[in-house]
This record gives sequence, structure tokens and C-alpha cells, in this order.
Amino acid sequence: MKLDVAFARSQFPAFQDPGLQDWAFFENAGGSYACVDTTDQLGRFYTQTKVQPYSPYPASSQAGEQMDRAHARWAEALSVNTDEVLFGPSTSANTYVLANALASILVPGDEVVVTNQDHEANTGALRRVTERSGATLREWRIDPETGLLDTEQLNGLLNSKTRLVAFPHSSNIIGQENDVARICEMAHSVGAWTLVDGVSYVPHSIPDVGALGADIYLFSLYKVYSVHQGLMVIRAELMADLPNQGHYFNDELAWYRMAPAGPDHAQVAASGGVLDYVERLDRHHFPGKDDGLRMSCERVSSLWRSHEDVLLGPVLDALSSNPLVRLLGPAVLDAGHDGSHRCPTVAFQVLNQDPAAVAQGLVERGIMASSGHYYAVRVLTGVGVDVDPGVVRVSWVHYTNEAEVEGMLSALSEVLD
Ligand SMILES: Cc1ncc(COP(=O)(O)O)c(C=O)c1O
Repeated sequence: MKLDVAFARSQFPAFQDPGLQDWAFFENAGGSYACVDTTDQLGRFYTQTKVQPYSPYPASSQAGEQMDRAHARWAEALSVNTDEVLFGPSTSANTYVLANALASILVPGDEVVVTNQDHEANTGALRRVTERSGATLREWRIDPETGLLDTEQLNGLLNSKTRLVAFPHSSNIIGQENDVARICEMAHSVGAWTLVDGVSYVPHSIPDVGALGADIYLFSLYKVYSVHQGLMVIRAELMADLPNQGHYFNDELAWYRMAPAGPDHAQVAASGGVLDYVERLDRHHFPGKDDGLRMSCERVSSLWRSHEDVLLGPVLDALSSNPLVRLLGPAVLDAGHDGSHRCPTVAFQVLNQDPAAVAQGLVERGIMASSGHYYAVRVLTGVGVDVDPGVVRVSWVHYTNEAEVEGMLSALSEVLD
């Protein structure tokens, strides 16, 4: 079964917008287009139920019901409990709050493992609080050539003092999926918690967080066809150990304990819209299947992946064979552990030009792309790339079509010439 890309695109208002007709969008890793369910539900909330939720009058109780529904739907999609799903303003804000909570339970002698494959949002605050609490920070480093993390090296960093291992599901520069289940198993075997940044991964595949075994799993909904909120899963066992970061009288309310900013009601309510889109895609491709939201996520993620992979092969071939660039991350689709995935987030160093000039050349040819360090300063340093000027990055998702990729490759060959 192949993804019906035209049908998928028909569900995104941006593709019908006259102002975007002459453009092909290749900065999806920065933030995706929103599906029609997101824009409709957000608009509806703002016009019909934009009142304080959870009071007894109809507009208010409906507002609360929509928020509760979104919570419950995300929990079902990710295979966790509703109380374990929390919303915050962004992943950066969520990790900041989490780091402060962790600071109170770390003591001198404890050890925290972080990687240099992460976006700064996943480890910056954690590195600071680890040092402040007198615990020891250990860095699991990427291979300087490939940018990949090797689980053998993690083995040497784990011991009975390790309290937490923080790592990305996939990096926003290197693209390769890490073996989350195996890494969680390794961390748990020494009694450590795990914190997984899924921001770069979830737009390509909605994960079964329950099965992966992560204790904390974070991602940014605005990259998953949805609203500008960060979603974090904190498993109940760990939540019980973390000190409340919200108002003292809300200590018993799981959703509020790690969300001191207070929820954005409209965005929380509309956040489930993307799951309605996933179900519509599922019904379009597999009519008659009615075995629950998680199974819809499985089937649709697999359609997304197969389509993205078809587009990825030619881009990896073109970049890895071009002597004027250095492709970062694997040049093949299946470089990692069994069944692992290389996400279509493709960054490359330009060897003979300023990357900003290459991005500008792409823009002049109707390709929305950019250059820079993408807050992955440690990753670029780790593979020997100067963060100023950084790299060019092109990224796409399931709604990107073959014509757009061909156009991007031909624009790129002109600009790199
Ligand atoms: C891999 C990764 N992690 C974390 C973040 C931070 O997410 P947010 O913008 O929601 O703070 C980003 C943002 O681009 C990212 O790409």
C-alpha cells in the first residue's frame, strides 16, 4: 500500500494558499504545515469556547471536554496513561522545568549521561543543574566521522551511580534513528531513568512510547502538523519521585505538577486534531479497519515512512556523490540497528561556498530552505563543522511529493555548480 500523497496534501490548507503556490517547503524540521483539523479546531475554540474551562456553563464545560479529549487521545496514541501526558509552551520550556525538578533529587556522587548528538534544548538545562547539584556529568559522544552514537560506548559510561540517561530519538542534523528500546533497557539495567527527545522523530512516525520504555519522552507538536505546544510524557513512577514545579495546592494534579506556565487552553484542545487527521488517512487507505487509534498510528506511520524513504534515496545519492559537499549522517537508509530509520532531515557542509549563499540560491529558485547551526552546536562541533557558518539543511515529511524533491535537487545542482 502506497501513501496517497495528493489526498494527504488536500488536508493541508497551506497547499491551497495562493501565497505558497510557487514554493516547495523543505524546512519541515523547523516546523511543519498544520493540517486542516488543527486549523479548524483552533479557530472553533477561539470563536465558540474561548472562556475559562471547567466551569458549569456550556461554553466552559465544552472547552474543558475538548481539552480532556485531546489529552486522552494523545495518551491512547502514545500507549501511555492520560495522567502521564503533559503540555507546555515548547520542548525547551518543558526540559527546563524538568531539569529544575531533577536538580532537587540529584546529589553529589550521582551521575547523569548526556550526548553531544542532542539539540541544545534536550541537555542544556540538564547539564547546568547536574553541575550545580554536584553530580557528575558524563558525555556519550558521537563518532566524529559518522555523527552516530554507539551503544557499546554507552556501556562504558553506565554504572550503579547513573541516575539519568538523556538522548535523542533522532538528531535534527544526523537524522538517524537511535535504538531507544535498547538504550532504555541498558539504562534501566543499572537503575537509571531515561529522557528521550523525540522532536525530530515524531513528525515521521508516531511512537509507541509505552513499548519503547522511555521514562520521559518529549516532542514539539508544531512539527507534527499541530499547534505550537510541547508535549511530554512522564511515566507515573518517575513523576512520583519528582518534586512539584507548579502551585503547591496542585500537587496532586499530574497535569499541573510540571507545567508552571499554565496550559494554553485553545492549543491543548486543538492538539488532538492531528490524530483525527491520522484516523482519516487510515480510513482512506484501509477502509473497514476499526481496531483503535494506536493501530491507526502504526499503519499511517508506516505509510509515511515508506513514502519518505522513496524520496530520501535520491537525495542521499546526490549529496554523497557530490565532492563539493559533505553529507552529515548516513548516506544509506538502513545504517543503524535492525529496522531503524533515517529520517528525511538532511544536513550538509558546503566545502567551497558560504552555506547562507547556497540557502539563498535555493530560495531564489522557489525552495524554502535555510542554513545555520539549528541549535545543534555540540553536534556540529562533534563532527568537526564550524558552527558559524554551519550547514545547509533540507527536510521533508510525508506530504512532500516527488516533483518537489526533483525540483529541490535540480535547484541544488545549479547552486552548487
Ligand atoms: C531535535 C530538537 N529537539 C528540541 C527542539 C526544541 O523544541 P522547541 O522549539 O519546542 O523548544 C528542537 C527544535 O527545533 C529540535 O529540533
